[in-house]
Amino acid sequence: MRFLEDVVLKKWSAAVLAGALAVGALAGCGGDDAGSTGGGGDDKITMGFSQVGAESGWRTANTKSIQESAATAGIDLKFSDAQGKQENQIKAIRSFIAQRVDVIAFSPVVESGWDTVLKEAKDANIPVILTDRSVDSQDKTLYKTFIGSDFVLEGKKAGEWLVKEYEGKTEPVNIVELQGSPGAAPANDRKAGFADVIKADPKFKVIASQTGQFTRTDGKEVMEAFLKAHPDIDVLYAHNDDMGLGAIEAIEAAGKKPGTDIKIITVDAVKDGMTALSEGKINFIVECSPLLGPQLMDLAKKVKAGETVEQRVLTEETTFTQEQAKAVLADRKY
Ligand code: AHR
Repeated sequence: MRFLEDVVLKKWSAAVLAGALAVGALAGCGGDDAGSTGGGGDDKITMGFSQVGAESGWRTANTKSIQESAATAGIDLKFSDAQGKQENQIKAIRSFIAQRVDVIAFSPVVESGWDTVLKEAKDANIPVILTDRSVDSQDKTLYKTFIGSDFVLEGKKAGEWLVKEYEGKTEPVNIVELQGSPGAAPANDRKAGFADVIKADPKFKVIASQTGQFTRTDGKEVMEAFLKAHPDIDVLYAHNDDMGLGAIEAIEAAGKKPGTDIKIITVDAVKDGMTALSEGKINFIVECSPLLGPQLMDLAKKVKAGETVEQRVLTEETTFTQEQAKAVLADRKY
C-alpha cells in the first residue's frame, strides 16, 4: 500500500513540475508588455533577426555588427539568413512569432509584400524594427521604427559628383548603370535619386541599366555585356561597391583602364571599394554605413521597455574622393 502511495505521489509531482515548466516557458518568452521577461525566463531580451543574405561586403559587415552588438548588449539573438528570398524572410518572421521572441528586426529583401506578416506580428503584440531597408506599407503602425540610410540621397550625391565632374563640357556623357537586386529599396531609390539629379542636363544619357544583384559575379557579367554592346561608355554608376569591383575586372579584361577610360561611381565604401578608389580604379564613393548594430540594440531595449522611439532613425554618412580614401584607408574597419 505504502509503495502504491509513493508511486502515485511521484507521478503527481512529475506532472505538476512538467506543467509548471510549460507555463514558465510560455511566460518566459514574453510578448510586448513592458514588464515581461524574454527568452529563458530571465530579463534577457530575445531578438529574432532576419538578414537579407551574404551578397556583398556591406552585408557581411552588417551581419558582424548586429551579432557583435547583440552580444555586447546582452541580447539573445536568433539570427536567420534569408539567402536573398522574401519567402524565407516571411517564414523566419512567422517562426519568430511562434517562438514569441520579444522583438523582431529585419532588413527586407524587397520593399513590397509585407503587410500580412507584419500584421501577424502586430496581432501577436511583438514589436518590429526595420533595419537598413524599409517597406512600402501604408500602415506605419505595422512597425515601431526604421533605422537606416537615405538611399535617394545617396543616389543624388552620386549624380551631383557627376554633374560637377563634367561641368562646362558639352559633349554627350554615356552612362551605364548596374542596379541592385530588383525591388530592393536601395536599388529603387539609388536609381531614382541619381536620375533626378542628372535629368537637369540632357548631355547625360543612361544608355544601359540592368541589375547586377548587388554581387561581384553579376556585376562582372553584366558589365561584360555592356562593353560588348556599347564601345563608347564614359561612366559606370554601380549601386554598390561589389558590383563596381566585378565591373572593374570586366573593364580591365576588355583592355580599358577603370577610373580613366571609364569613370566609376559606387555606393557603400567598404574596404575593398575604398582600396580601389585609392588606387584610382574608382572615382567616387557614396558611403552607406553597415554599422547599424549598436543603434539597433538600443532601439530594441527602448521598444521592449515601452518607451517611444522615433519612427525614422537616419544613419550618418559621407562621401569619398580618391584623395579622401587614401587618407582614411588604413583605419577602415570593414
Ligand atoms: O541595403 C544596403 C545594400 O545592400 C548595400 O548597399 C549593398 O551592398 C547591400 O547588398
